[in-house]
Amino acid sequence: MREVKPMNVPAHLAIIMDGNGRWAKKRSMPRFMGHAEGAKSVRVITEECARLGIKYLTLYAFSTENWKRPEKEVSFLMGLLGRYLDSETETLLKNNVRLFTIGDISKLPAKVSRKLESVKEKTSKNSGLKLVLALNYGSKNEILSAVKKIAEKAASGALKPGKITEETITQNLFTASIPDPDLMIRTSGEFRISNFLLWQLAYTELYITNVLWPDFRKKELLSAIRSYNKRDRRYGGIKSK
Ligand code: IPE
Ligand code: IPE
Ligand code: MG
Repeated sequence: MREVKPMNVPAHLAIIMDGNGRWAKKRSMPRFMGHAEGAKSVRVITEECARLGIKYLTLYAFSTENWKRPEKEVSFLMGLLGRYLDSETETLLKNNVRLFTIGDISKLPAKVSRKLESVKEKTSKNSGLKLVLALNYGSKNEILSAVKKIAEKAASGALKPGKITEETITQNLFTASIPDPDLMIRTSGEFRISNFLLWQLAYTELYITNVLWPDFRKKELLSAIRSYNKRDRRYGGIKSK
């Protein structure tokens, strides 16, 4: 297969990792086995993104709406996240990956949020790929919290309403220090955003594949990047090539 030149990779890749349940169902397995296999894709894709020189990888791992799932599934996902953090810290360190999170992780089980804080701290000196896990993340909730922070500054007199700019909003989102994604992949063929990065995706290239997340590995990632390489990003302007 033709390799993708490192200079053509997106600086920020965001992924809606969907289809774990359907992957398991197709095999007459319980849903949790799809999640376990999906965790392997997380490992493979993170390592590959680090190798390709991608700067930011944002993975939608648990949405503010995913609490609606049966308690058993939610607790399996939380346990899986805890085990992932235990087993992957060494690999993250070895690959120079720094961990970040977006979303309100204080609502996750205390053991898991403590582990997250600890891995973020342990990897804080790493200068390679920035892995951003979206956990208990919802874009509407993120925008709401930004509006509240801005309103408080305005009410206290620290900020004049007339001085509020798009940049003010950007700087008050969970993603304040992170550039907008260049490419967003959604697996499992669903044509929706599901409350993911609504503000940040304004000019992101979208790639939707029928491949289910547990089957999304190196080959599928390279296909997505090849498709991205063919896009003409006009940002409302005129054709550039
Ligand atoms: C994605 O797979 C994982 C999470 C949302 C946590 P799903 O669990 O949504 O799998 P499907 O969409 O039911 O197949
Ligand atoms: C989106 O997938 C959330 C994550 C991948 C974490 P869902 O499976 O929850 O989304 P819907 O319900 O199909 O929109
Ligand atoms: Mg789903």
